Amino acid sequence: MAETGKRGITIEGLRKRYGSGDTAVDALKGVDMTVSPGEVVGLIGPSGSGKSTLLKCLGAVIEPTGGRMTLGSDVIYDGKWKIKDLRALRRDRIGFIFQAPYLIPFLDVTDNVALLPMLAGHPDGESRKRAMELLEALDVAHRASAMPSRLSGGEQQRVAIARALANRPPVILADEPTAPLDSERALSVITILNAMAKQYETAIIVVTHDEKIIPTFRRIYHIRDGKTEEMAGEGRSVEIKKNNQSEEETA
Ligand SMILES: Nc1ncnc2c1ncn2[C@@H]1O[C@H](COP(=O)(O)OP(=O)(O)O)[C@@H](O)[C@H]1O
Ligand SMILES: [Mg+2]
Repeated sequence: MAETGKRGITIEGLRKRYGSGDTAVDALKGVDMTVSPGEVVGLIGPSGSGKSTLLKCLGAVIEPTGGRMTLGSDVIYDGKWKIKDLRALRRDRIGFIFQAPYLIPFLDVTDNVALLPMLAGHPDGESRKRAMELLEALDVAHRASAMPSRLSGGEQQRVAIARALANRPPVILADEPTAPLDSERALSVITILNAMAKQYETAIIVVTHDEKIIPTFRRIYHIRDGKTEEMAGEGRSVEIKKNNQSEEETA
């Protein structure tokens, strides 16, 4: 897991076609994108524009049909996969945050977060300590020994975010991570992602159409019709407005 080389993400001319013949869909038609270590970049675009497809290619969940992807100093795809062990790549170097939390139902909250560091070879005690620190940062430590089914939707999502951060992967891919959260917690998630990016030189891509968090990005990629366009964001520092309604009440 300890990756000493260059970090960050480079995508060049990435293409993805689903299916073939008459029913083929060209979801990505030559996407270019770079994310530096320590940077949190927004990816926005209308429904069906290829956002999830791009994250799935980068996360080695599906295979592109052309172009090039580089993680750190390793070319992982160049017309074909350049990495033999894609499972190890996903496990050790990429943290995923989805819209739905997908927690493991038979492990408590702490072990859901501690599992990946344990699998990566860290001692159980150290893995659980790291899990607790993240649960505290995400304001869900009071649920540490609960089973996932006992948590609200918003709490489950914050546990899922803690899990994505637990292995300190060089790359984090987040698909609508703040969708189930209220404004205050959505912004605190962005604060945490920014802090993680800085502290561990993580390169983070956040797919979102959440108006609350879009102004926080310094750089935004707009994806439209399978192609990306880079735009300057507002890069507003996160101001957390306290409000009285928590998402626990609305979830
Ligand atoms: N497994 C699939 N098979 C065929 N077409 C797909 C598949 N997944 C996505 N698509 C198509 O690819 C395009 C991009 O989809 P997607 O990446 O999910 O967009 P977004 O996440 O921006 O809403 C859409 O036209 C969608 O219908
Ligand atoms: Mg999507």
